[in-house]
Amino acid sequence: MDNPFKFGTIVEEEYFTDRVKEVAYIKQFLKSANHLVLISPRRFGKSSVVAKAVKESGRKHITVNLQQTTSIADFSAKLLREFFKVHPLEKVRHLITHFRVIPTVSTNPVTGSMDVSFQPNVDGNVLIEDVLMLIERAHSVKNRMIVVLDEFQEVLDIAPKFDKQLRSIMQSQKHINYVLLGSQESMMTDIFENKKSPFYHFGELMRLEKLPRKDFHRYLSERLSSVFPDSHEALSERILDYTGCHPYYSQQLAANVWQVGVLQPGSKDPLDEAVDHIVKSHGLDYERLWINQNRTNRWIMQRLASRKPLQSGEYRTSTVYSALKRLQKDGYVIYSDRYELEDPFFKQWILNEE
Ligand SMILES: Nc1ncnc2c1ncn2[C@@H]1O[C@H](COP(=O)(O)OP(=O)(O)OP(=O)(O)O)[C@@H](O)[C@H]1O
Ligand SMILES: [Mg+2]
Repeated sequence: MDNPFKFGTIVEEEYFTDRVKEVAYIKQFLKSANHLVLISPRRFGKSSVVAKAVKESGRKHITVNLQQTTSIADFSAKLLREFFKVHPLEKVRHLITHFRVIPTVSTNPVTGSMDVSFQPNVDGNVLIEDVLMLIERAHSVKNRMIVVLDEFQEVLDIAPKFDKQLRSIMQSQKHINYVLLGSQESMMTDIFENKKSPFYHFGELMRLEKLPRKDFHRYLSERLSSVFPDSHEALSERILDYTGCHPYYSQQLAANVWQVGVLQPGSKDPLDEAVDHIVKSHGLDYERLWINQNRTNRWIMQRLASRKPLQSGEYRTSTVYSALKRLQKDGYVIYSDRYELEDPFFKQWILNEE
């Protein structure tokens, strides 16, 4: 029996649940000439929901993850490689003649996939302009291409002033819908909401919430029922209580509960067992993470883990607030209706160590 839960990568098909409204909205939105910016804390399902919507739109689309690009030249090459997957080279060869630097295109003999590269030391600014204008020329107002740029906040790290250049190219285009995704809340907001940023008000801002409890409960419950015929409903409740309906952590915990059910059918409390297993298997990472925090951060994390108030007089309010903001920016703390630790298993580790 295969584990019916999936966590970590993009989920689709039977691993994807709910987000009906979001998918419909994105699909409809992309019929306009506008660009979409999707923001949420890490692992809420941005990449998955966009992949689904874009696929269902039936339109030509490409996706590049900026976290995996090392320079403007590398970004340009990756965009071009994706573009050739959608538009075979022989059909767009005439458009490449506009390029100021000719790319090297080769077929990887092992995988059969296409490799695209540019000579080293060429001006990245020229490359990105040529590649983005190629996409523009291959499409039309009636047949816009969808270009998804994942982990878009990385644009600030690729090269100085790259955001400015990118914006000025994109601004002149009419045949592309850009979908920009990002997970570092404050940085993404800064890019799109700060008047001084080149991307100020570039597109419609959409925020993704956690998955709705009822649907997620049904999803978990159905999949746990074969292993836990009597307790699948209650176990699903407890999983969602534990993770606060977080998409990734819920799937992770459910996968481990299921595993306990299969491997230790007599287990007294499969949920406790699963939590224990996850916390232990991440113990070294958590320890390293903890060691690298300063005292204020550690204190804040302990207070959040045990749900004790932060205004206890131990630290100045301004100190606590700025530390919280930093922790939030680094992704350790999230804010929905209150501040909480992002990872419920790290929270458990902190409680165990106290
Ligand atoms: N609609 C969904 N149905 C079920 N599980 C989901 C859904 N969306 C996300 N998940 C769970 O969350 C995990 C992360 O999803 P995804 O990679 O799409 O999120 P993300 O916001 O793009 O993450 P990151 O911040 O790492 O880029 C998935 O592997 C899956 O376990
Ligand atoms: Mg993602």
